[in-house]
Amino acid sequence: MAEKESEKMEKLVSLCKRRGFIFQSSEIYGGINGFWDYGPAGAELKRNLRDLWWQTMTRDRDDVVGLDATIVLHPKVWAASGHVDTFTDPMVDCKTCKGRFRADQLDDTPCPQKPSKCVAACEGEKTEPRAFNLMFQTHVGPVISDENKAYLRPETAQAIFVQFKNVFESSRVKIPFGICQIGKAFRNEVNPRNYTFRSREFEQLELEFFIRPDEAIKALCGTVRQWEEGADLSQPAEDWGWEMWHRYWTEQRLQFCRDVGLPADSLELYWQKEDELAHYAKATVDIMFRFPFGVQELEGVAARGDYDLRQHQAHSGKPLEVFDEEVKAAFAKWSDDQREALVQRKIAEDADAGDAASGPEAVRAWCERLFKGFYLPHVIEPSAGLDRLALAVLAAAYCEEESTDAKGKTERKTVMRLHPKVAPVKVGIFPLLKNKPELVAKAKEVHNLLRRRLTCFYDEGGSIGRRYARQDEIGTPFGVTIDFDTLGNENPDLADTVTVRERDGGTQHRIPINGLADWLAERIG
Ligand code: GAP
Repeated sequence: MAEKESEKMEKLVSLCKRRGFIFQSSEIYGGINGFWDYGPAGAELKRNLRDLWWQTMTRDRDDVVGLDATIVLHPKVWAASGHVDTFTDPMVDCKTCKGRFRADQLDDTPCPQKPSKCVAACEGEKTEPRAFNLMFQTHVGPVISDENKAYLRPETAQAIFVQFKNVFESSRVKIPFGICQIGKAFRNEVNPRNYTFRSREFEQLELEFFIRPDEAIKALCGTVRQWEEGADLSQPAEDWGWEMWHRYWTEQRLQFCRDVGLPADSLELYWQKEDELAHYAKATVDIMFRFPFGVQELEGVAARGDYDLRQHQAHSGKPLEVFDEEVKAAFAKWSDDQREALVQRKIAEDADAGDAASGPEAVRAWCERLFKGFYLPHVIEPSAGLDRLALAVLAAAYCEEESTDAKGKTERKTVMRLHPKVAPVKVGIFPLLKNKPELVAKAKEVHNLLRRRLTCFYDEGGSIGRRYARQDEIGTPFGVTIDFDTLGNENPDLADTVTVRERDGGTQHRIPINGLADWLAERIG
């Protein structure tokens, strides 16, 4: 990490504690590695991000519905999803320092005995890497036995697949549509690190968007639109297959990141290479953010085919296919030769898949079901971490400024330039003087008026400059000062008006109290 950036990270961590964004979990007992709490400012920031995600991903759309599933699921879910067998990290032990590390992170993990050295430089002999499953285990009920073993979910996605049929049948939705969910996830990370970036308990924001297989689109539209540079992704179209939907959701997610205040030039895409992709994934793109500790994954958008529903169908024995009348009608127009050509093409593609091939009989059966309008929808999955998003937003907002007061004294101060939409407090409310009851009464009146619509913080302690500075440090975009003009003592024209100061730039406006809530709400968005 470059010196300046590591310094920025230290200052950010210190501000987050000082101003109530993030605390170490169980701090008075020495903390617990990989677990973090959000203080008053952090809880509001997270709630704003969470609400914006929910609003954007479901309420603003006709084609996405929500789900709120349990954290503990039937253990067979995790066998079907592959987590029991393959959700592992390679772990090694150091025979000298006794530390336990991820084998793929030896080069940049500090040695506990010699923190100035990374583990790779520590001369201690390492054990051979072995697979360590990241799922937290628990037991359901009073008996601790293998039959009662359960897991805390390592992702929210699986419950969406498991409840797919219930949602589909109860919600009057049609393919393509999505199910989204927000909730806690737990991973027993070998090396939690970079503050909240890799934690053991965190919150996910996930969407599983279910689409028709490309073969169905071909039957319906005669063609499947291919993505090309500069393609219009603003409006989904009937002839979109998985590739266009994947690009579309990637663009939607990038736009969301920009909308919550992440600068466009701090974001980049990393397309996973063929050998990095999960065997079932058609494509995965990571949205990367320039954190102070390097460019790292913020969220991912994966095209998962029908893998998850297929696995759950096989393991549960319950049919998870949908029936699509339009697809059936489209294939009814095909000749036998056309259908056979499709079967042969799919068999050839399947043979190319090598170990992952399902065999000609299974392929033919899949095609026959499709011709009758039955299929397992394919999935595009934008999957984000709320804690990572909050950290990115905090890091992007952190800024230091120099200001010179009337006496020429220069001061360095911290301003969190949070987007007004995500800022924990939208408006600071300040009576100019706390020992003037008329000012205090008026300020409280303004507070009561605004708090119904906006998160406010009333502060009468210290100089106005100090009060502004305190709000700047938590990113409050507006400060409202109630002064003698508000009381109309000198100039009746200014009665019932207040001074509004903008955090960024310090511009001041004189606004009538009766239009104040609207004026602020319009600027906060
Ligand atoms: N359902 C797909 C899935 O869970 P993932 O890449 O493992 O994919 C998705 O996780 C997102 O969840 C990541 O991009 C990241 O934002 C967040 N995430 C994953 N592990 C995390 C951890 N240990 N701490 C904080 N956030 C994490």
